[in-house]
Amino acid sequence: MHYKKLKEFRSDFLWGASTSAYQVEGAWNEDGKGLSVMDMGHHPEGLADFKVTSDHYHHYKEDIALLHELGLKAYRFSIAWTRIFPEGTGKVNEKGLEFYRNLIDEILKYGMEPIVTQYHFDLPYALHLKGGWSNRATIDAYAEYVKVLYDNFGDRVKYWLTINEQNMMILHGAALGIVAPGTENIEKEIYQQNHHMLLAQAKAITLYHEMKLPGKIGPAPNITTIYPETCNPDDVIAAMNWTSIRNWLYLDMCVFGRYNSIAWSYLEKRGWTPAIEEGDMAILGHSLAKPDFIAFNYYSTATVAASRNDGSDKAAGADQQIVSGEEGVYRQGENPNLKLTSFGWTVDPQGFRSTLREINDRYNLPLLVTENGLGEYDKLEEGDIVNDDYRINYLREHIEQARLAVTDGVDLLGYCPWSAIDLVSTHQGFGKRYGFIYVNREENDLKDMRRIKKKSFGWYNKVIGSNGTDLE
Ligand code: BG6
Repeated sequence: MHYKKLKEFRSDFLWGASTSAYQVEGAWNEDGKGLSVMDMGHHPEGLADFKVTSDHYHHYKEDIALLHELGLKAYRFSIAWTRIFPEGTGKVNEKGLEFYRNLIDEILKYGMEPIVTQYHFDLPYALHLKGGWSNRATIDAYAEYVKVLYDNFGDRVKYWLTINEQNMMILHGAALGIVAPGTENIEKEIYQQNHHMLLAQAKAITLYHEMKLPGKIGPAPNITTIYPETCNPDDVIAAMNWTSIRNWLYLDMCVFGRYNSIAWSYLEKRGWTPAIEEGDMAILGHSLAKPDFIAFNYYSTATVAASRNDGSDKAAGADQQIVSGEEGVYRQGENPNLKLTSFGWTVDPQGFRSTLREINDRYNLPLLVTENGLGEYDKLEEGDIVNDDYRINYLREHIEQARLAVTDGVDLLGYCPWSAIDLVSTHQGFGKRYGFIYVNREENDLKDMRRIKKKSFGWYNKVIGSNGTDLE
C-alpha cells in the first residue's frame, strides 16, 4: 500500500533502547551474585568474555544520565536471576535487589519508563547443574523468582517481558553459548525444555495478572518474515514450515494456549514431542496467561527453499539470524534483493514492516519492538568521534517502515533498538558494537571504559524529539 499521508506514532510512544544483564553489567561475581550458564559457558577464542563487559554495574548512574540525555522515554534491561537468587532458588540476595531498586529509581528519576526482561539467556548455573529446563523444578524456581520481582518492583515497573528469545535458545542454543558446541541429537530434550519454559512463562503471566499489578506483560521472542526463495509452491511450503517452527510455535502457545498444529506434527514425525503432564494444558491455556502485548526482536529476514533431502540441507554457521536448514523441511535460500551486514545478516527494513503486519494479523495485540539494530566494527577517531552513519541509515530505514506499518494499522507501543550502549555480543565479542554510546575498551584490553557519544546518539535524540518524524 502506498500512502499520501502517514499516521503518526502514538503520542506516548516508547522510544527506547535495550541491553541485557550478562552482556552489559559485568561484576559477574560481586555482591553475592551467583554464577549463570553464561558465566560458565564457552567463549570463542580471543573474544571478550562476560566478566566485565561494559561494567554498567559500577557505571549505571553515569549510563542512565546519558540515556536521559539521549532523550529515551524508556530503557529496556534485564534482571540477572543470579543476582536475586544466587542458587536459582531458596535464599534471596538483598544486595541484588538493592542494585535493581537503585537502577529502577535512577531510571524513574529522569522520567523514563523501565521495561524489564525477567530472563535473558542467563539461567542460574546451580539450576543448570540440576538439569536446567529439563527439570520441571525449574518451572517453580522461575515462578518463585518472578514473584520476588513483582513484590519488589511491581509497583514501579509498568512493562514486563518474560523470556528473551526463547525460540533462539531452542533453535540456536549452541551459537548463543547455552548448549555445548557439538552436542547432537538433543532435540527431543530441547523440546521438552521448551515445553517447560512455556509453562514457566504462562505461570509468570498468570501470576502477574492475579496480583493485579498496574502494568502490562508480554513475551519477547525473535520473530521474522520468512520468504520462499522462489514462487515454486515447494519453496512456499518450505517457508511456511519454517515460519511455523521458528515463529508461531512460540507465540501460538503464549497467546492461544495451544501448540501450533504444523509445528506439532513436525515434532511428532521426528519423535520430539514433549511429555505433557496432566494439568499442563490448563496452565498454558489459562485465561490470565494471555499476554497484554507482544514484544519481539527483529534484525533481518530469512529466505528458505524446499529441502533437497539428499543430506545437503543443513548449512554450517547458523545463528539467530542465519538460517540453518533441515532435511525434509527446508534449506537455506538466497535473497538477491538484500544486502548483508559485516556479520552476514540480511538488512531488510521492508521485512520489518511485513513482520509487524504478520504478527498483528495473527494475534491482534499491541506490539513492542524490543530489539533492532546493526552490529559493526565502529572506529574511534581522533577527538572522540565515532561516525556510525551506517547505523543511522539502518535505523532510519527501519523506523520509516515501522511508521508505514503503523499507517497499515499496526498498534505499535514502542521501539527499543539494540543496544543502548556498547556491550558484548552473544558470540561475536566486543568488536561487534551496536550502541549509541561507545565504550572505550577492546576485546581483551579494558582501557579506560570511557563513555563516548557516537554520531547516532545525536541523530536518535532528534528522532525522539520529533516523535519519529525527523529522520534526517
Ligand atoms: C538477540 C539477543 O538475539 O540479538 C541479544 O536478544 C543479542 O542478546 C542480539 O546481543 C544481537 O546478537 P549478537 O549475536 O550480535 O549479539
